[in-house]
Amino acid sequence: MQLTWNPVLSIGNEEIDKQHIALFGFFGDFVDGYSRGEAKDKLLELHDRLEDYVEHHFQAEETLTQQVNLPDLKEHRRKHQNFRLRLSDMHQQISSQGPTLMNIIQTNKALVSWLVQHVQDLDQTFGEYLKEHPPGQV
Ligand SMILES: [Fe+2]
Repeated sequence: MQLTWNPVLSIGNEEIDKQHIALFGFFGDFVDGYSRGEAKDKLLELHDRLEDYVEHHFQAEETLTQQVNLPDLKEHRRKHQNFRLRLSDMHQQISSQGPTLMNIIQTNKALVSWLVQHVQDLDQTFGEYLKEHPPGQV
């Protein structure tokens, strides 16, 4: 599955946009691993890379939301935390069951809808706030 970041998804912050572009890459690699029928070990490796990058991205965003005093900072973090748990569950599931058809379908659906929602909704709102309250000027 080709997951491609599109400029229409820009939130107006260069660093976060760069990270979102990279996130699309890691998501795509993982979903492609399933499509290619990769074995459990390889899927776990791709999953770990995705998980590491998601953590890097969330930490960068959480630092920024704090710097600019984002009003719904707690909600933003709660959504990040939910996704961390979901990734952790996914890791557990692949580890115990391997790549079952149900796993593949559920994982693809969950990841793609999360990614689109994160970039299109959650971070667009954050981007709007950042335009009004740039870091260093709060
Ligand atoms: Fe983000």
